[in-house]
Amino acid sequence: MRTLYTQPLFMALQQLKQGESSISLKQRFAEDPVRFTRFCFTFGGHMRVDLSRQHLSGEVLSTLCELARTMELAPAIESLFGENELNHTEGRAVLHTALRVPPETNVSLNGHNVVPAVHMELTRMRSFCEQVHSGAWRGYSGQTITDVVSIGIGGSELGPAMVTEALTPYQDKGIRVHFVSNMDGAQLGSVLMHLDPARTLFVISSKTFTTDETLTNARSARSWLLAACGDAKQVEKHFVAVSVNCLAVAEFGIDAAYMFRFWEWVGGRFSLWSSIGLPIALALGFDRFEQLLAGAHEMDQHLRETPFEQNIPVLLALLSIWNINVLGLGSEGVFPYCHHLNRFPAFLQQLNMESNGKSVDSRGRPITHSTGPLVWGEVGTNGQHAFFQLLHQGSLIVPADFIGFVRTPYPYPEHQRKLLANMLAQAQALAFGKTRQQVEAELEAEGLGAEEIARLAPYKTMNGNRPSTTILCDELTPKTLGALIAMYEHKTFIQGWLWNINSFDQWGVELGKKLAAQLVDELAGVGSGQQDAATQGLVRQITRWQVECKA
Ligand code: F6P
Repeated sequence: MRTLYTQPLFMALQQLKQGESSISLKQRFAEDPVRFTRFCFTFGGHMRVDLSRQHLSGEVLSTLCELARTMELAPAIESLFGENELNHTEGRAVLHTALRVPPETNVSLNGHNVVPAVHMELTRMRSFCEQVHSGAWRGYSGQTITDVVSIGIGGSELGPAMVTEALTPYQDKGIRVHFVSNMDGAQLGSVLMHLDPARTLFVISSKTFTTDETLTNARSARSWLLAACGDAKQVEKHFVAVSVNCLAVAEFGIDAAYMFRFWEWVGGRFSLWSSIGLPIALALGFDRFEQLLAGAHEMDQHLRETPFEQNIPVLLALLSIWNINVLGLGSEGVFPYCHHLNRFPAFLQQLNMESNGKSVDSRGRPITHSTGPLVWGEVGTNGQHAFFQLLHQGSLIVPADFIGFVRTPYPYPEHQRKLLANMLAQAQALAFGKTRQQVEAELEAEGLGAEEIARLAPYKTMNGNRPSTTILCDELTPKTLGALIAMYEHKTFIQGWLWNINSFDQWGVELGKKLAAQLVDELAGVGSGQQDAATQGLVRQITRWQVECKA
């Protein structure tokens, strides 16, 4: 039975906490000159994951690994690569790893190898990208495509948008890719106002093809196109779809020939490797999309083949169990020191919070311990000048992931040196802080008197001892990014396994969608009027202001 809190090894961890909490990070480093080497882990030639500034000891780590073994993590990991029923509440298998395997691999689902279909779709994507890039694909006026607008939301947007932006230096195909997700027409309107309908291609991405935001945006985009070309037959030259729902795509008016498929066994937030990645391939070229897949596959191999003690996604997940369930730290900050990873925190938010924000176990029973953390973040160095104050001196302790890249394609070596120095400095300051004595000595050196020193010292003292992980990569390439994303995907799955939750459903988002549909009627004046008092009051106010606006 996978109940974390009743595992004897979990209780052993709680007992270890007593002794471990009294040892500061400073002390750990002082007592162990090879701590960095012992706790810094290697992925291939291009990634290092440094856990030395986490509140970990060798004993804690080996107990966590033992706990994972008793909770049958090894067979769980294997199940992610073949026949499984991991998403039991939706009656679906979970096989996103099959989207990045070489063509000769056999991944069986219900007795059928899914890999040929995966590669057939990749081939269709490649051929479509080549048509667009070569200029063979023409719009209604006979001109080539210059702009792609990808319309989708959640998993059908966050992954593709994050990767496309992250790999900006690789965008050399002459196609600008824009993303529209929000129901707020401001986003669609502000994108379209700069585009020429004759040279714009829309990719409508939705697994279900029922998501209101996506369909509302897609319909408005079609009207915009029709207003320019005046001929419904021309729509097919400007609209393609990515979905599992052929019927709904056809109903929208997109021909099956222009639909790229994926499968129910691909969860939305794990789908960027499928044809949901089409906007990425259009922006970067298909070869680079394949490199992204290759990087993720390399991480998959690492996950399957590496002993837990050296296995990076396993260690990251176990660390979060230690931080969340033993040390009581329920938030995780992610800080990429790379401007193009601007959307990485938002991507991770969906990946982890939609997956593990659950409080019912795999048998429908309430879970009494903490599960998914609050995941948030911002790129460095911007975050430093915004909320890092709380990280350094606030009462909330937030374990942080710092992500940095040594090389940059931009010709500003001084910026890069300073950027990396800032990343290292933050992890250092969080871990080791500044003692009262150091502060007093500094103030004295500045010439301040004893009274002033005594007054200011408490404010300037930083206790440190705040945990962080540093993920250092050589360069942000499609391959490294693929590996980095897959690493976090696997961490998410392993956390869910250890908490005994289904990381692959998302029932919690359904109620809001249904209520919104009813409230559209209320706002249009055709609802039942049977709403709670607060909602009714706000509906009345909205209606009043709408009327005043028209008058
Ligand atoms: O509302 C949540 C959600 O279902 C996500 O899980 C999903 O990624 C997103 O909406 C978009 O769904 P779809 O791809 O079906 O439009």
